[in-house]
Amino acid sequence: MFELEKISKSFNELTALADVNLKIAKEHTTVFIGPSGCGKSTLIRVLMGLIEPDHGVVHYEGVPVNADSAMLLRRRMGYVTQGGGLFPHLTAWRNIALMAQYLGRSKDDIRNRVNELLALTNLSPDVLNRYPTQLSGGQRQRVALARALMLDPTVLMLDEPFGALDPIVRYQLQTDLRDIFRGLGKTVVMVTHDIGEAGFFGDHIVLLREGGIVQQGSIHDFVHRPSDPFVEHFISAQRTLLDSLEGGT
Ligand SMILES: Nc1ncnc2c1ncn2[C@@H]1O[C@H](COP(=O)(O)OP(=O)(O)OP(=O)(O)O)[C@@H](O)[C@H]1O
Ligand SMILES: [Mg+2]
Repeated sequence: MFELEKISKSFNELTALADVNLKIAKEHTTVFIGPSGCGKSTLIRVLMGLIEPDHGVVHYEGVPVNADSAMLLRRRMGYVTQGGGLFPHLTAWRNIALMAQYLGRSKDDIRNRVNELLALTNLSPDVLNRYPTQLSGGQRQRVALARALMLDPTVLMLDEPFGALDPIVRYQLQTDLRDIFRGLGKTVVMVTHDIGEAGFFGDHIVLLREGGIVQQGSIHDFVHRPSDPFVEHFISAQRTLLDSLEGGT
């Protein structure tokens, strides 16, 4: 669905992406993982045409993503930015419904869809009239997810969408969403710091380091065939805390 060819992007002296070649399969979930600052969010923005790369081309279903095509392509993509990115001066309801209203959808359609999304994201209707500052972090994140799903997009871009959720809600939403992605055949690109989450969602996992791809494949590949010591270290670092707790009891 996406094909990236030799994508590079620098911010002043800093190289955020260096010569990235990548294919993202339709109707699968691809997960970007890697240390803070390795270029995950930048890569998502390049995919959506929000950042123009210095070099290289992104193709979406064969169409080059550029200033001309980006606006139209973005309508097919739902995006949850890192931290949610809700408009602070709009209520939850307005945040979720904004694009649908802009596109002239009927009131009934909008109301029905919002109700579906409330059920899906496990949000109570009384949050709808509140502003983002009046919501908990987890509620904000679910409102951001509902907003991204509002237009039933073909592609979902989720930049650390579960960060502020407590473990139980997180688990519920993770399982619900995975079923939705699979059931509806969504193409999903997700960023996470959590290798467990990467394995849970990712048909394909891409590990980045300093703007380049270190390894890509299934969770099985990462655990059993790490391509170099960095990969091994990245995976074992996340297991150490848990293992040490279990070992200590
Ligand atoms: N608009 C910008 N201007 C300058 N530097 C930027 C900009 N956006 C990103 N960077 C830098 O590019 C690098 C990659 O940033 P990016 O946000 O893609 O990292 P990330 O992998 O998403 O990190 P995190 O896990 O912390 O969210 C970082 O060093 C960051 O400081
Ligand atoms: Mg990021």
